[in-house]
Amino acid sequence: MLTGVIGALDIMKRQVASGRFDDLPRFIDAASISADRASALTQRLLTLSHRQPLAAQPIEVEPLLAALEALIRRSIGDGISLHGDYQHGTVRVLADARQLQNAVLNLAVNARDAMPGGGQIRLHTCLVDLQQENRAALPDLQAGQYLLIALSDTGSGMSSETLERVFDPFFTTKSVGRGSGLGLSMVHGFARQSGGQVTIHSEPAVGTTVRLYLPVVDGPGCEARQPADQAPGQARILLVESDSSVCLLVGEVAAERGHGLINAAEPLAALELLRREAFDLLIADVSLPGISGVQLAQAAHGLRPGLSVLLVAAAADIGQLAAAPALKSIAKPFSRRELGETLDELLPGPS
Ligand SMILES: Nc1ncnc2c1ncn2[C@@H]1O[C@H](COP(=O)(O)OP(=O)(O)O)[C@@H](O)[C@H]1O
Ligand SMILES: [Mg+2]
Repeated sequence: MLTGVIGALDIMKRQVASGRFDDLPRFIDAASISADRASALTQRLLTLSHRQPLAAQPIEVEPLLAALEALIRRSIGDGISLHGDYQHGTVRVLADARQLQNAVLNLAVNARDAMPGGGQIRLHTCLVDLQQENRAALPDLQAGQYLLIALSDTGSGMSSETLERVFDPFFTTKSVGRGSGLGLSMVHGFARQSGGQVTIHSEPAVGTTVRLYLPVVDGPGCEARQPADQAPGQARILLVESDSSVCLLVGEVAAERGHGLINAAEPLAALELLRREAFDLLIADVSLPGISGVQLAQAAHGLRPGLSVLLVAAAADIGQLAAAPALKSIAKPFSRRELGETLDELLPGPS
C-alpha cells in the first residue's frame, strides 16, 4: 500500500519537474486510495491489539445500519439477498460509529464468502435484557440492557475446529490475497473494548449467525455532548510536532476555525513560550526529541495549571499514552474531520 503512495508521488514529482500537469489528478487519486487503505488496515491492527483509542459516542444504530445496507449490497453482489429487520427502537449504544460500521461490514463480507452460490443474509437487531439468570452464555458481560446486532447467513457454516480459532488474529481458511484473518478478531476487539461481546453459532452446510452485543446508553444528557454550532474560536494553540504533514493539517484545521497557531520547533522552545505567554491548548507529539510528550505536558501543567493538552501519537507510540490516561490523545493517521471534532471539543469557543 505504501508502494502505491510512494510510487504515485514519485511519478508526480517527475511530471511536475517536466511541466506536465494533466495527469496529476489520476496519481493524486491513486495515492489517496492507497493511503486510505493503509490507514484502515492500521486501524484494524490496532483495534485487535486493543490499543486503538476508540472515539466512543452515543450513536443511534438504525440510521447507521440503514446507511450501511447500500454498502453491503454493493459488496455482496446480486446472488445474495439482504434483509434488514431492526427492532430495537431508538435506544443508543456507546461505541465508535466507524468501527461499528466496519464490524458489521466485515461480518457481511464473511457471509458473502461463505455463500459462493448465492443465499440470504439477515441483519437483525433487538434489545436484550441481561439479568443474572440468563447470563450463562455471556458470563463476562455485566447485567443490563444490550443492543443485539445479529447477522445470519445461509452459507457453508464452519467445522468445530474452525470455530475454535475464528477470533485468532490472522486465522483464515481463505487463500492468500482473499483473506487477512483479521475480520473476526477486529470484530471481537471492538466488541470487548466497547463493553460488549460477540458470539458465533454455526452449523456446517446450514449457515452461521454472529451476534454482537453492545451496551445501551440510557437516558438523556448525552445530547449536550453533540457538537453544536459554535462561534469561531479564536483560541491560541501551541503546537510541538516535527512531522510536517501533521503541522500542515493542524494549521489548516485551526485556521478554518479562526484559531491562532504557533509552532514551536522543539520542547524547550515550547516551554519557554508557555512561560511568557498564555495559550488555550498545547498540541504535542508523544515522542519528541529528548523529552516525551507526556513529560512535556506535565512540565506545561507546572507552568500553566489547567492548560488543555492534546497528544498526537503514532501507532508505535500509543503505549506511552498509558502513562497519562487523563490526557486527551489522537492517533496518527487522523483525518481532517477527526482533528476538527477534537479541537471543537477541547476549545468550545466563547459561549
Ligand atoms: N459467515 C461465515 N461462514 C463460514 N465461515 C466463516 C464465516 N465467517 C468467518 N468464517 C471463517 O472464519 C475465518 C476467519 O474470518 P475472518 O477473521 O473474517 O478472516 P478472513 O475473512 O480474512 O478469512 C474465515 O477464514 C472463515 O473460515
Ligand atoms: Mg473476513
